[in-house]
Amino acid sequence: MDMRNWFLAFHMLGVIVYAGSLLTLSRLLAFTVAQPAETRERLIPFVRRSYFFVTLPSLIVLLIFGLLLIFKVGEPGGGILDYLKPYADEAHTIRTPWYSTFHAKLVLFASLVAIDISMGRSIGKLSRGVTTLSPRRFKMLHGLMALIILLIVILMEAGPLKGPTIDAYFPKHHAAQTAQQPGQP
Ligand code: HEM
Repeated sequence: MDMRNWFLAFHMLGVIVYAGSLLTLSRLLAFTVAQPAETRERLIPFVRRSYFFVTLPSLIVLLIFGLLLIFKVGEPGGGILDYLKPYADEAHTIRTPWYSTFHAKLVLFASLVAIDISMGRSIGKLSRGVTTLSPRRFKMLHGLMALIILLIVILMEAGPLKGPTIDAYFPKHHAAQTAQQPGQP
């Protein structure tokens, strides 16, 4: 297994844990803010721990491995931001299909992080004793995040990024890779 596959594996682990924890946390927040004071006080430390010890670390893991993939660390001809280039050639004649796909993914990701930060702020308020938070808001955020995650996974798995992508558009990179792995079809 080459380095890229290791990065992908850890990127996907980060994605799974991050997505799972965001979806759980939003429902947990909706439940917590609807409870009487005594139950709420008992749930808040659990909510805080989930956020700081699961949600944030998994975000960092997915981001670190996403960046290693973007910068093509350890790959032949690495260090090029191929995913973010609108054209595959110097003459700017071949458009890269992943350019728009990847930007769409990054915009969706940014909105997910914005919701994440807003939930973090709500957890802070809850810890300071604010009791005016509405469960409806967290239920709506839950649905919105589920939609965003769905769209990102569809973009990555069924969109133009899937299949023989970079190598088909970057012959130099492709040549360097096949030279490194002789005997591969
Ligand atoms: C919650 C947010 C994210 C989700 C759900 C997500 C999901 C995915 C999925 C499903 C794949 C395809 C794995 C495969 O089957 O090969 C992938 C690959 C990748 N991701 Fe992410 N990702 C997220 C955030 C990010 C971020 C923030 C970055 C950049 C900093 C990033 C960079 C990449 C790169 C470069 C690839 C490899 C694409 C390829 O060449 O096939 N991802 N991601």
